[in-house]
Amino acid sequence: MPEADAREDRNFQADVPQKSEGFFLKGSNALDWGLKNRLSKIFDPTSGRTVMLAIDHGYFQGPTTGLERVDLDIVPLLPWADTLMCTRGILRSVIPPTYGKGIVIRASGGPSILKDLSNEQIAISIEEAVRLNVAAMAVQVFIGGESETQSVHNLTRLVDMGNSAGIATLAVTAVGRELVRDARYLRLATRICAELGATYVKTYFCDEDFETVTASCPIPIVIAGGKKLPEKEALQMAYDAIQQGASGVDMGRNIFQSEAPAAMIQAVRKVVHENEKPEIAFEYFRDLKNRS
Ligand code: 5RP
Repeated sequence: MPEADAREDRNFQADVPQKSEGFFLKGSNALDWGLKNRLSKIFDPTSGRTVMLAIDHGYFQGPTTGLERVDLDIVPLLPWADTLMCTRGILRSVIPPTYGKGIVIRASGGPSILKDLSNEQIAISIEEAVRLNVAAMAVQVFIGGESETQSVHNLTRLVDMGNSAGIATLAVTAVGRELVRDARYLRLATRICAELGATYVKTYFCDEDFETVTASCPIPIVIAGGKKLPEKEALQMAYDAIQQGASGVDMGRNIFQSEAPAAMIQAVRKVVHENEKPEIAFEYFRDLKNRS
């Protein structure tokens, strides 16, 4: 049977091998197409990094300072966020569905600040995550915590759920007050999350030997912002983490509790995506702040 559209002069470029490019993210080359596509909505394929804006604090501590009115104070920041990390309640009630970048949905929960925080369970179904078109599901993992095993099981179940739908799993290493956030602990926690199938990991920065944490974790690491610091210090921390192998930041309070959140998120972008020195990024922050 001849081909219906066959012309004699077609050029199949048989001498040009098909391109077979590696995926840009550390340790992610063997993932499926849909997962890679979703990861490209979290990490910028040009820089290979991300500025995630974390606003999910309300799932265990209610209306956190700076998040009282997400519609008024956070939605205007969305143009500068590579990804928004939030709960499904805030997503449905406040975030415009025209937001085209990645959503990382809070997928675990249970206890409030009044109880043992490690006693979490999975708080979303895979059907709901697909319905919301999320790029990743975030789960706390409490290595060394009271409910360590339960939180690790939450992670592995979410990995199974996520992989079945091509949705990434973000393991958030949650460190209780009784534990020291040093490189030794962070290596243990991040490596366990990677070994058990997380797609990427969120952890804290530590002043000493952070490069050993990123080196021994075979998947991308983003750092948590943590409690509010002076802007210059937060930019320095982001810079140090990026230069020592982090693939981005997942920053909340250091952006939305800043005296100028829009200026701060833009300054963070300079550090993360352009390797800008913290001193220069801080000047940029001050300039933007004064202009607004
Ligand atoms: C809660 C979280 C938060 O999303 C995240 O830690 C908050 O970000 P930040 O510490 O920068 O305010 O994972 O455990």
